[in-house]
Amino acid sequence: MKAGLFISVEGAEGVGKTTSLAYIHQLLEDAGISYTSTREPGGTQLGEKIRDILLDKKNTQMTDMTELLLMFAARAQHVEEVIKPALKQGAWVVCDRFTDSSFAYQGAARGIADETIELINKAALAAFSPDLTVLLDVDVEVGMQRAGSRGELDRFEKEDLIFFEKVRQGFLTRAKVYERFNIIDASKSIIEVNSQLANVLLPTIRDWLQHSGQSTQNG
Ligand code: TYD
Repeated sequence: MKAGLFISVEGAEGVGKTTSLAYIHQLLEDAGISYTSTREPGGTQLGEKIRDILLDKKNTQMTDMTELLLMFAARAQHVEEVIKPALKQGAWVVCDRFTDSSFAYQGAARGIADETIELINKAALAAFSPDLTVLLDVDVEVGMQRAGSRGELDRFEKEDLIFFEKVRQGFLTRAKVYERFNIIDASKSIIEVNSQLANVLLPTIRDWLQHSGQSTQNG
């Protein structure tokens, strides 16, 4: 059986990840591809407990390194328990954030060196990485305005504009280096964002179906 593809969806706050994830799920359903939808930090019972610690705004003393290691602890469990088994069974995995978020948040924004994160990435998960990454990109002020109307803020959402500008630049820098990245202009309307997502994903879907011996319903 042909292994599934691993898709990650990335971006800073208020970029419209939830809406875009729903549309990606729709594209896969329309193509008749089975998929697992998951998220980071979290995605496993153990990982969700780590997520609670990471997001809890009462944890004001957490060091940047503790934060990074907890992200990777949750991720190591997630990869072995959920992601790899699903891919092996031929399902696609759509993940709300993955390692690029650690490079953007703990790296570019908190200031931990890329080389340090890369070392941990290699040790924790042999640098296992997505086949395709969708980066939803929007002006930070616009994103923060959108995210601001969501009620109580978690430990990350409490950060300021400068922090999220660094996060954005962190993602954009990686997008220049790794071919798997596809930048989506998330400042556009939902219809336009969806059409950009379809342009990115449909060729990959068709290609995968062809090589897995299946074909799309509409060719
Ligand atoms: P998420 O629930 O996806 O938040 P949002 O809805 O704002 O996208 O993710 C929780 C927070 O965790 C988010 O603020 C980004 C942060 N994060 C990191 O700092 N590093 C990481 O490696 C990951 C996966 C997430």
